[in-house]
Amino acid sequence: MRVVPTTPFLDQRPGTSGLRKRVGVFQQPHYLENFVQAILDAAALPSDATLVVGGDGRYHNREAIQVILQMAAANGVRHAIVGQNGILSTPAASHLIRLRKANGGIILSASHNPGGPDGDFGIKYNVANGGPAPENVTAVIAERAASLTEYRIEDSADLPIGDVGTHQLGGMRVEVVDPVTDYAALMETLFDFGAIRQLLASGFRMRFDAMHAVTGPYAREILERRLGAPAGTVVRAEPLPDFGGGHPDPNLTYAHDLVEEMFGANAPDFGAASDGDGDRNMVLGARFFVSPSDSLAILAANATRVPGYAAGLAGIARSMPTSGAADRVAAALGIACFETPTGWKFFGNLLDAGRVTLCGEESFGTGSNHVREKDGLWAVLFWLNILAARRESVELVVREHWQRFGRNYYTRHDYEEVDAIAARALIEHVREQQAALPGTTLAGDIVQTADDFSYLDPIDGSVSHHQGLRIVFASGARIIFRLSGTGTAGATIRLYVESYEPDPARHDLDAQVALAPYIEAAMALSDFVARTGRTSPTVIT
Ligand code: G1P
Ligand code: ZN
Repeated sequence: MRVVPTTPFLDQRPGTSGLRKRVGVFQQPHYLENFVQAILDAAALPSDATLVVGGDGRYHNREAIQVILQMAAANGVRHAIVGQNGILSTPAASHLIRLRKANGGIILSASHNPGGPDGDFGIKYNVANGGPAPENVTAVIAERAASLTEYRIEDSADLPIGDVGTHQLGGMRVEVVDPVTDYAALMETLFDFGAIRQLLASGFRMRFDAMHAVTGPYAREILERRLGAPAGTVVRAEPLPDFGGGHPDPNLTYAHDLVEEMFGANAPDFGAASDGDGDRNMVLGARFFVSPSDSLAILAANATRVPGYAAGLAGIARSMPTSGAADRVAAALGIACFETPTGWKFFGNLLDAGRVTLCGEESFGTGSNHVREKDGLWAVLFWLNILAARRESVELVVREHWQRFGRNYYTRHDYEEVDAIAARALIEHVREQQAALPGTTLAGDIVQTADDFSYLDPIDGSVSHHQGLRIVFASGARIIFRLSGTGTAGATIRLYVESYEPDPARHDLDAQVALAPYIEAAMALSDFVARTGRTSPTVIT
């Protein structure tokens, strides 16, 4: 064991989901080691600790896994469970932590950010419930990282983690496990695989785009092998360190091949994609896009058709910028709906306390109490189970939902890599106007409230401030401004816009058209173009 003197890096503060930086930043001498030491210090693990370690296979994953194992051993961890070749999807890692009663896990991923030598890398710590470390833990990690003077590492050759088996590293036992088996078994307990198999055998056609990211092997095993979908159903199934040069973010912009196929002449009945680390999902029907906010509401409204949720839901949670569609389902079901800040870490307490069963974010994230992360393939299987039970098209399921609950038109506009100072100034400019907004008319609608969202966690009483600027209208419409906490270059401004339309005769508009007055009002209010030099978003969802 070696104790290596070091000095802190000043930028090691975890964001929405761990620490994400360009690969080159992580390749600086001591950079990764410092942050791992900060995690291990903050985690304060017991002497017989078990740690799960894995990542999405992106560039630098292989090297980083070995460093983490050597440091875990040197810091007294007794048992490490590692995915074969260092691979674990984020939901599979969360499940493994829970299944094996580990004390925590270190997950290597920058989620949907591009990979490769010039792409992004990331690392985050999950706690014993399988979920991302809550803010009180990430704050300690940041503090430790800022004051570190040394780290501990075991001097050892790289372990052969390409095969399932057990190794010894100093005082630590390293168990290399198949990354898919336990996760696939969990899915079989939640969904009616028999009914989905029948659906897939009935001429129903689907496509799953793994975007050369981590879900390829999971989707092949579950969809093609266990559920009998024809070989080739899963495309871009081979995980690649640079995701084949793509941007592994399942949205209308970056999953364009899938979108083209689903909007093409011979479109399959169902299309889905997942992101770099397997926690996001995009769901499409033939020539039909399901907005993630609607998806959460529809899963909730149909949950009792799915074996794992047949007993009903305890409650639903959604992040603040996610549309209010789920709130309407919760009201109809007579269950609670919680509004939390952006990021999965805020759902953990509610799930642990049994207050909610389903959670979702507008950013293509949906999940439940089966793990403590959002889960891309789980959402795909949930949809397949609903379609198998209802034998209706995706479009019909969504339209019937709107008829019953009304439609929440929704869009998110992302402006990526904006000058960071200009972005912060823009947020301040909106904030300064907020106090005067209630009672005034914007976009032909009356502003009811305007604030900077704060969240009081009902379980542990902690408060999180500055979680996004909200302008809420009398009609139920909302405009939200927020700065991303996951970007690695400049600042990303997110503008979220929503309106509510109860009348089925008006459910056929394009969301951009329906929301245009609110989008224009938001642009004018924030003086957007003049302040950022941007006239159009990088990504529209
Ligand atoms: C983004 C999403 C957020 C999600 C996070 C991690 O964070 O908006 O909903 O939880 O990625 O996948 P942001 O960049 O907005 O801070
Ligand atoms: Zn992700």
